[in-house]
Amino acid sequence: MEKLKLLYEGKAKKIYETAEQDIYLVEYKDDATAFNGLKKGTIVDKGIINNKMSAMMFTYLQKNGVANHFVEIISDREQIVRRLKMIPLEIVVRNIVAGSLAKRVGKEEGYALTSPVLELYYKNDSLGDPLVNDTHALALGWATADQLKTMKQMAIRVNELMIELAAKAGIDLVDFKLEFGLCDGQVFLGDEISPDTCRFWDKATGKKLDKDRFRRDLGQVEEAYSEVYKRLREVIASES
Ligand code: TMP
Ligand code: ASP
Repeated sequence: MEKLKLLYEGKAKKIYETAEQDIYLVEYKDDATAFNGLKKGTIVDKGIINNKMSAMMFTYLQKNGVANHFVEIISDREQIVRRLKMIPLEIVVRNIVAGSLAKRVGKEEGYALTSPVLELYYKNDSLGDPLVNDTHALALGWATADQLKTMKQMAIRVNELMIELAAKAGIDLVDFKLEFGLCDGQVFLGDEISPDTCRFWDKATGKKLDKDRFRRDLGQVEEAYSEVYKRLREVIASES
């Protein structure tokens, strides 16, 4: 599959047109940003790990009934996906308090939530992706009530599947972010699932195995990304 026109370059990925109208090619970059682009850097070979990990997670989710855009991995840094019309919302699912929730509600990081928390953010870089709720999404025409319901159900299902998988790999799934889009009127999960978009903590030691190592200058960033991918891959391989 050949890369044609570059359609969009984001902070972590490039999206290309292909000869097929309904198919895009995604190229994962090593660039890393945090705090809405204020902090910039490179995580060596992050593009390779995130490409492979997203491909693996999307395949696992498809096998478990979660419709998503993934079609095929074609190289270390590239995968083929179904073209989606993106819904301009990020859904964050949280199991343990961390990051912006810790600040917002004044609770220490590590507090185990009694049930998952679902948050919506309006995807808009120049506004810094503000926190919004269902009524904003409906009233501003970002999604219909049915689409929101489906996105939330899918997010909860992804959470259940990923908590179980991570637990078998000795990892706590703290939180993660999902993005959705439409194809032929149906809601599909899109974007990526990687240590850039999830928080993973080692169950035994609490060690952070995700992008917080970059955000907070904790060191061993590359090692953490490889470690989490390797552990999850072993669990998935042992089950198939
Ligand atoms: P937060 O605690 O900073 O709101 O992040 C919650 C989760 O969402 C965390 O797993 C990281 C992920 N996330 C992204 O994938 N992209 C983003 O732009 C932000 C702010 C968070
Ligand atoms: N991806 C966001 C940024 O580039 C935020 C983050 O992941 O912390 O700023």
